[in-house]
Amino acid sequence: MSFLTRRPSLDALSNTEEGEHRLRRTLSWPHLVALGVGAIIGTGIYTLIGVGAGLAGPGVMLSFLLAGAVCVFAALAYAELASMMPAAGSAYTYSYAALGEFVAWIVGFSLLLEYSVVCSAVAVGWSGYATGFLDGLGVHLPDALTKGPHAGGIFNFPAVFIIAVVAGLLAIGTRESAAVNAFLVVVKLAALALFVAIALPAFNPAHFEPFMPFGVSSTKVVDGEIVKIGVLPAASIIFFAFYGFDAVSTAAEEAKRPERDLALGIIGSMVICTAIYMIVAAAAIGAMPFGQLAASKEPLAEVVRTLGNPTAAAAIAGAAVIALPTVILAFMYGQSRIFFVMARDGLLPTSLAKVHKRTGSPLAMTFATAIFVGAIAGFFPLDEIAALANAGTLAAFIAVGASLMVLRMRDPARARPFRTPLWFIVGPAAILGCGYLFFTLPTNTQVYFVIAHAIGLVLYFAWGFRKSRLAAAK
Ligand code: ALA
Repeated sequence: MSFLTRRPSLDALSNTEEGEHRLRRTLSWPHLVALGVGAIIGTGIYTLIGVGAGLAGPGVMLSFLLAGAVCVFAALAYAELASMMPAAGSAYTYSYAALGEFVAWIVGFSLLLEYSVVCSAVAVGWSGYATGFLDGLGVHLPDALTKGPHAGGIFNFPAVFIIAVVAGLLAIGTRESAAVNAFLVVVKLAALALFVAIALPAFNPAHFEPFMPFGVSSTKVVDGEIVKIGVLPAASIIFFAFYGFDAVSTAAEEAKRPERDLALGIIGSMVICTAIYMIVAAAAIGAMPFGQLAASKEPLAEVVRTLGNPTAAAAIAGAAVIALPTVILAFMYGQSRIFFVMARDGLLPTSLAKVHKRTGSPLAMTFATAIFVGAIAGFFPLDEIAALANAGTLAAFIAVGASLMVLRMRDPARARPFRTPLWFIVGPAAILGCGYLFFTLPTNTQVYFVIAHAIGLVLYFAWGFRKSRLAAAK
């Protein structure tokens, strides 16, 4: 049973590899903050704010606060571990060091659910915006090519298309991708600023009454099914809007000064986005009755349109079409890096961990990721994909909280370029907060999560269990 406990030394993880298995260091702190903001602001604030308002009423403000607070604890834990072990594997690497290979494999598989499935979810969300946008220009794509089989179509062509475009961009090289990302982040922020500038003057405090029409947590029956409603269930959905700061940690081996800049990128992007979300959410609820907000598929554009500004509404919708792919870019980038590190550790075939000489990026991994992500996006519905991505992320965040605590206890004297304050509160708060949100997710999602991990364990025993670097070192 030694595979349950085998783990590498921390020193080995702090020194990243040589030769063809080394990534190129091209990113400085503004790139890292932009990577984080690019990954965080997306489908969550642009569309799920409406879903959240439907579940919680104006109390969705509290859902934002709660989900944000849970993420602050997770971000602090990430920042400490990323600065201590600047390797591209993120939560997988931290768990590998703290909890051993077996748990790390499970965390790696949870990250697969987070990073890949989030790309698929955002691609499907983007497809909705893009189809609407093209309709506005008089170009109508046939339904068979814009919907998966679940909705009567064949496959979701725009979703697969945007994934192919982003994968192509990543293949060109990391620095080029980071530059495009930085530009698109500005577009996305400008659209939110335009929204706030128009919605805030129309602020009506009466829209905040009653504040919590569905209470903290209750249920209602919709189409014969019991649905969880209230501030807490809304928080487990709104959680989707917050993550992405963790993707910064996957750039560890391409950061010029990882010990300082990773913590800055993770916490900086998290704080900036939380502040923006609170303002956007308050402006949206204050400008429009929550029921109307909940009924819209493009709530922010809808608010501005209702306030009599169709041009600005079109600009906001257009910005979403142009800029939502930054979320896909950041997560696909992160996924290829995590696969890359798992392959380097021998848990996946090592031939996949080669870095291309010219671009300095793991080409085979990027394309393998794109094919996997495209297959999910082409054929599955958005709500199920998004909930599954939340489940994977919550599991990874729990592992990061646990790794923080284990390493503080096991190796308290080790150098930590960023030390989180009050780790004995931050760790348990991340674990309990994420654990609670996990159990608030739909039951179906929890079942899919367990099935995915069962498949993951079969793969582990078929390959990594015998082939991993730690197995070979015995
Ligand atoms: N936070 C990202 C989004 O909202 C996943 O799209």
